Amino acid sequence: MKAIKIEGGKTLSGSIRVSGAKNSAVALIPAAILASDKVTICNVPDITDTDALAEILTFLGAKVNRASESIVIDPTSIENKEIPSEISKKLRASYYFMGALLGKYKKVSMYFPGGCSIGKRPINLHLKGFESLGAKVTIEKDKYLVEADELKGCPIYLDIASVGATINIMLAAVLAKGETIIDNAAKEPEIVNVATFLNSMGARITGAGTSKIRIKGVPKLNGCFHEVIPDRIEAGTYAIIGALCGSYLKIDNVIPKHLESLLLKLEEMGVDSEVGEDYIVLNKPSSYKAVSIKTMVYPGFPTDLQQPFTVLLTQAKGTSSVEETIFENRFMHVPYLNKMGANIVTVGNKASIKGPTPLVGCEVEATDLRAGAALVIAALIAEGETIITNVEHILRGYEEIVEKLTNVGAKIEIIEID
Ligand code: EPZ
Repeated sequence: MKAIKIEGGKTLSGSIRVSGAKNSAVALIPAAILASDKVTICNVPDITDTDALAEILTFLGAKVNRASESIVIDPTSIENKEIPSEISKKLRASYYFMGALLGKYKKVSMYFPGGCSIGKRPINLHLKGFESLGAKVTIEKDKYLVEADELKGCPIYLDIASVGATINIMLAAVLAKGETIIDNAAKEPEIVNVATFLNSMGARITGAGTSKIRIKGVPKLNGCFHEVIPDRIEAGTYAIIGALCGSYLKIDNVIPKHLESLLLKLEEMGVDSEVGEDYIVLNKPSSYKAVSIKTMVYPGFPTDLQQPFTVLLTQAKGTSSVEETIFENRFMHVPYLNKMGANIVTVGNKASIKGPTPLVGCEVEATDLRAGAALVIAALIAEGETIITNVEHILRGYEEIVEKLTNVGAKIEIIEID
């Protein structure tokens, strides 16, 4: 089994280049099905999640060519067949094949195992959107059959500003007859990236990035060339590392606007960052002020940075607080941070962090992607050696994390343990 070994206490300097956004790429790859010709997407991160989605496309008969940072998808030879559990269960984002196949062929049959470590994560809003467009949904255990004689645009209100449901309904609606309006839509930058992709194929989507998205159905979508936006969560993770152990640590290929909530919180803690047009430079300050964060939908503080940020709060002077409002079980990193010496108490969806507490390396386990990232950060500032097991969680969402950190002075390697 693979694990990550880190010798803590190093000062990191130099520059780290941020890769393409995982949470955009995992929607763009299935969305390529909607095109009637070849699609090229560049700046695709080389992570296991994008590999798994390319595997599903290949299973369906698409021609997929992966070259370093780009992927060329020819969907013209796709055969719309049932997607089995063994390939769809590898990642939750496989649910985007529902919207894409329904939108293109008016039918999709796939296994979609629900649940996830950070919460129940139902897809009721996705399915409600499909039904509003005229589809019939049949669920037998984990098998979803969604089919429609015709997809007709309509107004759809989302009870929760769900990222996945917003994108999946867009995918199902772009070739429907008439106009669809998604109200209370999620506003994340990844949604804008997907809408821009679909529009460059010939779709007619307006309002992406606001809470009201209009989709005028078109008869056909063409091939196109598109670029994945930089990953704001990867960038934020490295910015937090810079705040904790950086000396002129430069995070390159960033859209600073996408990180506004994090940068404001870092400033509130006394961390100065130099913000350029497409980069951020961070230096570790002499001390950190305690602050409180509450995770919100974009542009609020992102839930995906809550776990990495909690490590920073263990070094703040005083009592900090975290309120997680998006997922019901996103504190699984806490017992491991406490094992390393942190002083965190959680009650329900709130955590209270007393600091500063020196951290000491030991063996810990990655329970989910961002908890794993938090443990990498803790290990980088801990005294001595840390071993992080279940490293697959981390490699799902952080391209070349070992190489990127090694290049700026971290002592980190992937080892085999029995
Ligand atoms: C996306 O998940 C991201 N994943 C998550 O990133 C991110 O944390 C989340 O958005 C919020 O920003 C991808 O984009 C692949 P939601 P998604 O639908 O779309 C509930 C990471 O670490 N809900 O916005 O699944 C849901 O349970 C991952 O990169 C319903 O109740 O998130 C959650 O409590 C983790 N019914 C809340 O809404 C639904 O039909 C927000 O979920 C859909 C969602």
